[in-house]
Amino acid sequence: MARGLWSWLGSCLLVSALGMVPPPENVRMNSVNFKNILEWESPAFPKGNLTFKAQYLSYRKFQDVCNSTALTQCDFSSLSKYGEYTLRVRAEFAGEHSDWVNITFYPMDDTIIGPPGIKLEALSHALYIYFLAPKIETEHETWTMKSIYNSWVYNVQYWKNGSDEKNPITCQYESEILQNLEPWTTYCVRVQGFLPDRNKTGEWSEPVCEHTISDETAPTWVVIIVVLAAAVCACLVLLGCFSLLWCIYKRTKYTFAHRTPLPQHLKEFLSHPQHNRLLFFSFPLSDENEVFDKLSVITDISESSKQNPGDNFRSPPGQGLPSS
Ligand SMILES: *[C@@H]1O[C@H](CO)[C@@H](O)[C@H](O)[C@H]1NC(C)=O
Ligand SMILES: *[C@@H]1O[C@H](CO)[C@@H](O)[C@H](O)[C@H]1NC(C)=O
Ligand SMILES: *[C@@H]1O[C@H](CO)[C@@H](O)[C@H](O)[C@H]1NC(C)=O
Repeated sequence: MARGLWSWLGSCLLVSALGMVPPPENVRMNSVNFKNILEWESPAFPKGNLTFKAQYLSYRKFQDVCNSTALTQCDFSSLSKYGEYTLRVRAEFAGEHSDWVNITFYPMDDTIIGPPGIKLEALSHALYIYFLAPKIETEHETWTMKSIYNSWVYNVQYWKNGSDEKNPITCQYESEILQNLEPWTTYCVRVQGFLPDRNKTGEWSEPVCEHTISDETAPTWVVIIVVLAAAVCACLVLLGCFSLLWCIYKRTKYTFAHRTPLPQHLKEFLSHPQHNRLLFFSFPLSDENEVFDKLSVITDISESSKQNPGDNFRSPPGQGLPSS
């Protein structure tokens, strides 16, 4: 505060005593991914509003980049990346001007490497990381910070969300797989560009977090439950089939219990397709007790027909048929 006051008083003294314009203050280059913004602060100047001129040295001659600007910054992004530059800026007022304030600028060394982008894809025990190298605004979009520097690598840190222990890895390529992770867990990842040959680190990205999915192989208890359920279903179905078969067997056995071997005429009757079908269709329609009664009648007929070998089963029509 006191310093500000003194510099303000000094400026006023300078201005009033010598009629001089005070120079811009705190001149610095703010360069990120080769977006080069020269910034400064306007000095205290009671007489009016200052304007500024900013230049760079090119082939022993200074070129204007910003002239008579009221802003306190000037965009030098059009400079080539591969050079070293002297930049200067001065304040002007009503035909008078301040001294130049000079700075030197080496774009390749001085520019700040911005944070890369991250995309994550989660599996159960692994995370796929895709890196997006920082773009350079003034270049075609295929040009990235990675393509400018030869030795570019990605410094990666990953950690379980909530844990303080960060695991570092270094990646050369545009993607990486983190293996041996725990399923169903949130992992966070952040990344920075790093230039080993210059020992230059970039800015860290914001952490990006992703939830690893559940295990692909189902847990044991699920397997056990599924197997048990399948076994119970199978048992029920088998039981159903068995009781059905048992019923059929019992009924059939009861029906033919006292007639083994089958009488010759019944055999003939059954071997005749038409009668066979007739029996087959009529059997379920007829009443159970009725069927049994009728079949025992058949036995009588067959016994009586033994005495008349030429006799056909059809000879006493209506009696032998179990139809209703
Ligand atoms: C800035 O550079 C110019 C020449 O380029 C020189 O005359 C001047 O004294 C320098 N100013 C400061 C403050 O270094
Ligand atoms: C990380 O954990 C904190 C608590 O430890 C929680 O508030 C936050 O939502 C978690 N972030 C993610 C992305 O799960
Ligand atoms: C690289 O730079 C870091 C600081 O950014 C420093 O601590 C380290 O010693 C440097 N390493 C080498 C090999 O110069």
